[in-house]
Amino acid sequence: MSEHVIVERQGAAQIIRMNRGDKKNALTRAMYATMAAALNASNDDPEIRVNVIMGVPGAFSAGNDIADFMVIATGGDGGTEVFDFLCALATLKKPLISAVDGVAVGIGTTIQFHCDLSFATPRTVFHTPFTDLGIIPEAGSTLIGPALLGRQAAFAMLALGEPFPADRAHQVGLIYKVVAEDALEAEVLAAAARIAEKPPTALATARRLMAGDTEKLVARITEEGQHFRKLLASDEARQAFMSFMSRKK
Ligand code: COA
Repeated sequence: MSEHVIVERQGAAQIIRMNRGDKKNALTRAMYATMAAALNASNDDPEIRVNVIMGVPGAFSAGNDIADFMVIATGGDGGTEVFDFLCALATLKKPLISAVDGVAVGIGTTIQFHCDLSFATPRTVFHTPFTDLGIIPEAGSTLIGPALLGRQAAFAMLALGEPFPADRAHQVGLIYKVVAEDALEAEVLAAAARIAEKPPTALATARRLMAGDTEKLVARITEEGQHFRKLLASDEARQAFMSFMSRKK
């Protein structure tokens, strides 16, 4: 379990809060493991009717911890935590909503493809610089992205790494609503409460049908993962990670 993820209940909502603010919520293997365990546990817990994922003020997540990427890039073991987390997202049976404020990089953006409702503040910028780092988009985003955003917006975001401010993310359908910073948590918790009041079987069935083919999604996550791991060990990726880790502020 990670000290950097707080999992708590608020009524029928399970709140998963990424809490590594000093690193802009860069995600470590332990954080992925804690979040995967919480999501998986919600599937069979009748008391949980909805999951909420959030970060800290100013940082939803700066994506995968680059030091962890570097371990794999230099021949070390990356573990299965990231893959397990992505599968937990893809096979989740309860609704997932997100509260996003500020930094939303890499997986901080691609998580939104698995959310039923995403709320973001006006200062939020969604950014997936995967190809600039010599790697490829993950989390099934190569499958869901074009379907959700349209091929060209998906290409601009996921392949070109164009930053999408909240209003543009809303316009292309990545997120449900733009909400002022001071109203974000209250609005998200109100949405969670609304979801929790619905008949759970009907809601879960509607959600499952809308979420699409889980097997296909897991297969794509697996395929992306194979390319991703190979590319992590490339010279261009290693150099990009080194340049981030040795950068001067
Ligand atoms: N992995 C590891 N550490 C990270 C990180 C990441 N993905 N993102 C941020 N951090 C760390 C920084 O190294 C810094 O640590 P330090 O204070 O010990 O030096 C701290 O978090 C704060 O980050 P900083 O860069 O000073 O904040 P900022 O507001 O100027 O910029 C970002 C925020 C997110 C734009 C910038 O940190 C960044 O580009 N991070 C990398 C994002 C990324 O490429 N993620 C992988 C996507 S696949």
